[in-house]
Amino acid sequence: MPDSPYFVVRGSDIQGKGAFATKAIRKGTRVIEYTGQIIPEDEADRRYDDSKMKRHHTFLFQMCDGAVAIDAAVGGNDARFINHSCDPNCEPVEDRGRIFIEAIRSIKVGEELTYNYGLTGEGDEHDDWKEKYRCNCGAPNCSGNMLIKPKKKRVVKKAAKKKAGK
Ligand SMILES: C[S@@+](CC[C@H](N)C(=O)[O-])C[C@H]1O[C@@H](n2cnc3c(N)ncnc32)[C@H](O)[C@@H]1O
Ligand SMILES: [Zn+2]
Repeated sequence: MPDSPYFVVRGSDIQGKGAFATKAIRKGTRVIEYTGQIIPEDEADRRYDDSKMKRHHTFLFQMCDGAVAIDAAVGGNDARFINHSCDPNCEPVEDRGRIFIEAIRSIKVGEELTYNYGLTGEGDEHDDWKEKYRCNCGAPNCSGNMLIKPKKKRVVKKAAKKKAGK
């Protein structure tokens, strides 16, 4: 059984495996929760040492400005295969400490699901950071890498509170 009723995982032109819509998805649909083991930043750095990687590759979802992360390699689901894009069709939303991936526009069958990783890693510490974090999303507005500018901290949108009595 797939982990989401909305997509399957298969080879992607962006990188490795990706998530592809199996049905039309409406804007605002929660396609999957990003699950895994919640670990502090130092443990995440220990597990995924950028300086030892030729190309940045992790299954981490950074939260709280990077203070903690969800490591989807441990107990995670198919959300870990959703690739980054500079022109994404989904976004992560925090709802009571949990992260959900939501469609930000309508998505057609066969389209690859993506969100902007908004990585705040100190990529420019390494001489080879441009190569290490190179983005292959193919979007016309691609910034060339998966990092966001250090001053623009990642903000994960909070889910709207439900009205009382609903
Ligand atoms: C959570 S995994 C996504 C699934 C990945 N494609 C795989 O097969 O394991 C995140 C990793 O995928 C790669 N990736 C995702 N989006 C990318 C992109 N736009 N350009 C290049 N690599 C990307 C990076 O190595 C990143 O660290
Ligand atoms: Zn890009």
